[in-house]
Amino acid sequence: MVSSAAGFRAEELTGRGLLKASAVTWFSVAALGQFAFALYIFLFYGGAAIAGDWEAWTARLIVGFVEADVLGNLNVLAHMLLAFIICVGGPLQFVPAIRKRFPVFHHWVGRTYALAAVLISLGGLYLTWSRGMAGLVNEIGISVNAILILIFAGYTVRNALKRRFDRHHRWALRLFMVASGVWFFRVGFGFWFIITGGTMPGVGPMLNGPFDYFLAIGSYVLPLVILETYLHARDKGGAAVRHAASALVFSAAAVTGVGIVGAAMIFWLPTLLG
Ligand code: HEM
Repeated sequence: MVSSAAGFRAEELTGRGLLKASAVTWFSVAALGQFAFALYIFLFYGGAAIAGDWEAWTARLIVGFVEADVLGNLNVLAHMLLAFIICVGGPLQFVPAIRKRFPVFHHWVGRTYALAAVLISLGGLYLTWSRGMAGLVNEIGISVNAILILIFAGYTVRNALKRRFDRHHRWALRLFMVASGVWFFRVGFGFWFIITGGTMPGVGPMLNGPFDYFLAIGSYVLPLVILETYLHARDKGGAAVRHAASALVFSAAAVTGVGIVGAAMIFWLPTLLG
């Protein structure tokens, strides 16, 4: 009893407890938001597919289904299935209770997630460069995102196979951040929508405003910077650094939460109810 109280006190003094609480808070908010995105994909794209209403897909997408473009159309189909797997599987991988109690499940979800992330990136690159996607800046932004997913998936799997679990865990976190890039992109718009009262300055009609360009790159670079700050504080920081990093991660949790509500308001709910 005495030693656990002493341990708790030591955690408070070094900022470890606070940093962990901030990470758990951010992660819980993000997991809910990814499940909401997955639910949207399932209800909208899955629902329309079951009803055989493929035109609903094309009406919602930038290009959608194009007559005689078999490879492109198969890619669009696979994209939504893989997107669903990624949004459900990613958050599950970071729940310690699942990892410890169901290791076999963790291994298989992990393999499926990494494979899905690789396939969606290759397919997404094909769609982006064969059909175009809202201008060069956005095309380059999402392509760099896809390349980072491919690289990080490689490191995550490699370290797991070599049983270097500490490194595996770090690369898995990085992979999760970049594979969530398109989700952060939507959450970023949602946040901007809410804090600007719906006026959204800097957003262009064709995703060509300064804010759009900022998000095209920032949607994966900013989460990566915050993750690296967190990892540095956790492993090498002193108490002051850990407290500062905790404040950063708690702020990120607030921004993410507001952004999820905004993304649901401007993207997901209007499509589902529309
Ligand atoms: C890794 C996670 C990804 C998820 C969860 C995801 C999810 C989605 C979803 C849900 C849509 C439909 C638009 C909507 O209803 O919001 C979409 C469209 C699209 N995505 Fe992704 N995506 C991912 C990665 C990528 C990557 C890496 C690329 C490019 C390199 C990409 C390229 C595209 C393109 C081009 C479309 C439009 C397809 C069309 O209009 O025909 N995606 N994505």
